[in-house]
Amino acid sequence: MIMSKYTNLIDLDDMSSEQWLKIIKLAADISENPSKYSKVCEGKIMATLFYEPSTRTQISFQTAMLRLGGTIIGFDNPATSSVAKGENLKDTTKIVSSYADIMVMRHPMEGAAKAAALMADCPIINAGDGSHLHPTQTLTDMLTIYKEKGRLSNLTIGLCGDLKNGRTVHSMCKALSDFQGIKFVFISTPELGMPAYIKDILKVKNCEFTENPVLENAIGGLDILYMTRVQKERFSSEDEYLSLKDAYCLDRRKLSKGKNDLIVLHPLPRVDEIPMDVDDDPRALYFKQAKNGVYVRMALVMSILESPNASTPLLKGEVYPDFRCQNPACITQKEDYLPKSFTGTEDMCVCEYCDARSLR
Ligand code: NCD
Repeated sequence: MIMSKYTNLIDLDDMSSEQWLKIIKLAADISENPSKYSKVCEGKIMATLFYEPSTRTQISFQTAMLRLGGTIIGFDNPATSSVAKGENLKDTTKIVSSYADIMVMRHPMEGAAKAAALMADCPIINAGDGSHLHPTQTLTDMLTIYKEKGRLSNLTIGLCGDLKNGRTVHSMCKALSDFQGIKFVFISTPELGMPAYIKDILKVKNCEFTENPVLENAIGGLDILYMTRVQKERFSSEDEYLSLKDAYCLDRRKLSKGKNDLIVLHPLPRVDEIPMDVDDDPRALYFKQAKNGVYVRMALVMSILESPNASTPLLKGEVYPDFRCQNPACITQKEDYLPKSFTGTEDMCVCEYCDARSLR
């Protein structure tokens, strides 16, 4: 077992559903009484290391820390840092985490935040690791659902678009399947379908899901419609992206088939999957959702910085030094020094960084 000295947020599994609910309720209070919290992080420094483009996640984390009275350091373009000179993730993490009290990382490779947490001298928050996970977007989504619906249970949630590469929907399935009466409807083409490992998690937790490739047919039964963009940057071929990019579009005609109390969410950025004239529909809540991202990140940062350092397990499986995860997007492909740790069986290994399965 390889431990961390800190309370990190790599995956929402790192916390129980009671703990998330506490963070959501704290975020709801912050949104009502922001001035009450304006000094709680005075003297603290947050580092934001963004190896991949971001608008909302990065700026909302920075706003959150500034609104809590703390300060921020970091980079949003690795090309202007020593990463461009070939510095590895370990060295960058070791140095920056010795300067800061908390570090937020976005990286194109899957499992990068966990790899950073192995090396860091402060708590790490995963702000998106490739196509894998995006836990703080899920906290944002949960806060929005909680405020609008008054509950996180007994909801039918349609996830539409690129469910294969969209990390936000992976984190959402993992988190909301812990609540009572959640049903998912996966609205995607076979090429953009939800990964098998997420479906397996839902099966183990007895969380109902169905698949319906036609948005127009599925929309009438939904309480929440979560639209996503086709993730251009994850395709190896431009032609494949072009053939799928217009697979789904929520226009006003389709939206007219949704319930009156449907809410439409989108992590943003949108491309063409929601035309702008949908923005005026009162059910379109994605801009409100993005604003909630600040409050939930304030609650998260505060909670992590206030929690005493605790030993938390990072790698629980077996280390196989001579075997490598077969996912080309896994962080262990690039950062060779990382302990290659797997759960699963001797023959079917599940990588502890990216959750991919490899035959051994
Ligand atoms: C999402 C992301 O980066 O995964 N955006 C965000 O964080 N709000 C969704 C996306 O890029 O499509």
